[in-house]
Amino acid sequence: MQIAPNVFFVGAVDWDRRMFDELIPLPDGTSYNSYLIRGTGKTALLDTVDPTKAEMLFDHLESFGVDRIDYVISHHAEQDHSGTIPEVLKKFPMAKVVTNEKCKGLLIELLCLKDEDFIVIADGEELSLGDKTLKFVLTPWVHWPETMVTYLKEDRVLFTCDFLGSHMATASIFVDEYGAAYESAKRYFAEIMMPFRLPIRKNLEKIKALDFKIIAPSHGFVYDKPQFILDAYADWTSDNVKNEVLVPYNSMHGATRKMVDVFVDALRERNIAVKQFNLAGTDLGKIAIALVDGATIVLGTSQVLAGAHPNVAHAAFVVNALRPKTKFVSLIGSYLWGGQMVEQIKGLLPNLKAELLEPVVIKGYPKENDFKALAAMADTIAAKHKAAGIL
Ligand code: FEO
Repeated sequence: MQIAPNVFFVGAVDWDRRMFDELIPLPDGTSYNSYLIRGTGKTALLDTVDPTKAEMLFDHLESFGVDRIDYVISHHAEQDHSGTIPEVLKKFPMAKVVTNEKCKGLLIELLCLKDEDFIVIADGEELSLGDKTLKFVLTPWVHWPETMVTYLKEDRVLFTCDFLGSHMATASIFVDEYGAAYESAKRYFAEIMMPFRLPIRKNLEKIKALDFKIIAPSHGFVYDKPQFILDAYADWTSDNVKNEVLVPYNSMHGATRKMVDVFVDALRERNIAVKQFNLAGTDLGKIAIALVDGATIVLGTSQVLAGAHPNVAHAAFVVNALRPKTKFVSLIGSYLWGGQMVEQIKGLLPNLKAELLEPVVIKGYPKENDFKALAAMADTIAAKHKAAGIL
């Protein structure tokens, strides 16, 4: 499939993949977008595919009659893009891997490539393919330290690899449904990019200097209206939060469940939006998406072996790793003896720059005074959201 004159998609759509990094659910599958650029002098392959889909890449190259690749541009060393480079070099021994110094080091570590396999480029350097010119721009920490993008000057296409991508298996190359594109790009940002919000902001500014009309990531849709994804990223990476409380919870015998029900009603009465997630069966990606812009998180837990329920501890661990811009955090829950839940959960959230609101942790099934405490917590959150200008 052609995305610009003599620029072709030769990657692989992975309709069946349901987990990424053995952690992240992929409800819509994903794709490994590899691109072929044919210049009048040289041919370049931009990224490869996950090794499980190597056959698809080679089938595509064969269908385009490719008998020579001069350059394999590697934007990012993670194996879903780099893993087929060794096989490409075997089939096209004249090819050199073009990348930055840091990425070269990682590729040598991960794929056992050799020093002589590489041409190392610097930030802003250009490479001519004859009638087409590639300009390389380093964009570190989206989401690894070596990440970079390539700008194809003559056709004004920006190849961004993971940056601005989405986990979406689709038969169309360009966005054909903006709602689905937004949701999958937000899930992707939440799960992979959110911890790097600040470097991403800088890199967004850096790439804006390039006059592109198409953004071609290495996962999901290609954007022929790039402002769509740039606007979304500007919002997600900003400091803005929404008048929203996330309530991920686990209840073993119904006491915590009752607290969640009462608390959620109290929030709704105060015009605060709520997203609740029963951790016994929630897709972690849904929580990650909500973390992108929710102002407050209140975890709900039963007691297990004197501590929080392991599902809640796991959720807290993931929240901490994703470093959302959450402003307020708290805990509600029920225990019977030796409750260490508050200290335990606090200890799992050192990365959160959020104010801790007084938890409501009670003995047994909630009673009248406990309902009052939950209403008071809802009052506090309403006051905090008002003071933050979001309610
Ligand atoms: Fe799509 Fe970071 O690899």
